Amino acid sequence: MKQNISMVPMIFKRNIALSAKLFSGLFRIGLARCSPKRNYGFNHFKKLGLVYFKLTGACNLRCVMCGQYGEKGVMKDRAAEENKKVLPLETWKKFADEIAPQKPVVYMWGGEPFLYPDIFPLCKHIVDKGLFLSVNTNGTLIERHAEQIVRDKWSSIFVSLDAFRDVNDEMRGKGSYDKVIAGFKAINREKEKQKAKYPLLGIVTVVTNKNYMDLANLVEASKEYKLDMHIINLGTYTNDNIVATQKRFMREKLNTEIDCLEAYNTGYNLGIDGEKLHRILSEVQNKNYGHPILTVPTLNPQKTHTYYAELETPVRNHCVVPWCQANVNYNGDVHFCADYPDYILGNIKDQSFKDIINGDRANLFRKTINESEGGMFPGCLRCYQNMLFGNKIKGF
Ligand SMILES: C[S@@+](CC[C@H](N)C(=O)[O-])C[C@H]1O[C@@H](n2cnc3c(N)ncnc32)[C@H](O)[C@@H]1O
Ligand code: SF4
Repeated sequence: MKQNISMVPMIFKRNIALSAKLFSGLFRIGLARCSPKRNYGFNHFKKLGLVYFKLTGACNLRCVMCGQYGEKGVMKDRAAEENKKVLPLETWKKFADEIAPQKPVVYMWGGEPFLYPDIFPLCKHIVDKGLFLSVNTNGTLIERHAEQIVRDKWSSIFVSLDAFRDVNDEMRGKGSYDKVIAGFKAINREKEKQKAKYPLLGIVTVVTNKNYMDLANLVEASKEYKLDMHIINLGTYTNDNIVATQKRFMREKLNTEIDCLEAYNTGYNLGIDGEKLHRILSEVQNKNYGHPILTVPTLNPQKTHTYYAELETPVRNHCVVPWCQANVNYNGDVHFCADYPDYILGNIKDQSFKDIINGDRANLFRKTINESEGGMFPGCLRCYQNMLFGNKIKGF
């Protein structure tokens, strides 16, 4: 697989001002890697590179591999009750005002973020503050809002699309492929009409045993939609043993009962032929589709098999997330681990974010992970944030 860093000049060429904002956030994350992993008595607020706004837990799809609404998804049976807890617009705006001077990249997600009723005024507020705003969506609702998305100058939209029509719809629900394509066309039409460069448009694909043989078809079919980037995410997976070890670990070290990791114990990694997948990924990366194709994580050929078949073998380590990132949940709870909101640092309804991120619970988490083997917990082995920002282990 090509190293993703080789794409940086291409991305910069598309839009220098926007790329500069994005890379200043990413630079801080890079810096967190090289800096000493300080815990107590240090102002971590100043080091923020990326902040996740999880606007809602509600979703209009039921994707099979999803940790929230998939077969083992944690939201499946709690959605109605949890969806009453979303934060009012004013709370999110106040939070955005607090973090804005640090200039982190803002990444909105959910559930499905378009189901948050005030997504537009909130996004406008964030863009007006001069922050890089990226929205991750299932794309089924963007067609009707394309005019406003472009007018409000969102920086980028990452739309989840997992395969060409039939396979995608098997994973994400009937009709979802065509809705996403209609959304791409509408955004492109609006960009042309409004003579706008924004938003950058990307696809995010999660690899499972259902879609991996179809990736080349998806990449080929998407080339006409004027994309800026396509990220192929090798997927978050775990197994019974890792879940049990992590449960014990979190109980003993952080006095926390967890249930989110089990949601990724789906088995959709099983049977993926690593050699075939590697060949497919190398081929699509070596062809020119007019936009970069990135993989997360990049792996050496023989290790693609390890990624899926040997879940207990680490491919990345020394997670830097607690030193430069945070996720705010739909109810205001703050976490480091976006996909595993079990350990709560505090709540933005009760405390300033700065106090939360510099508080004792945050520092205990930092200290514990830093002292753990490989600078990560047993449950971090295939975590998406760690795959993006962890250290590459030699040989992988
Ligand atoms: C949970 S979704 C929330 C945003 C929105 N609903 C969407 O689907 O894009 C965030 C991202 O996680 C991805 N995702 C879902 N299940 C996953 C898994 N098992 N491993 C890695 N990523 C996954 C989705 O495809 C999406 O790109
Ligand atoms: S659209 Fe996103 S949040 Fe909804 S089920 Fe699919 S992956 Fe999960």
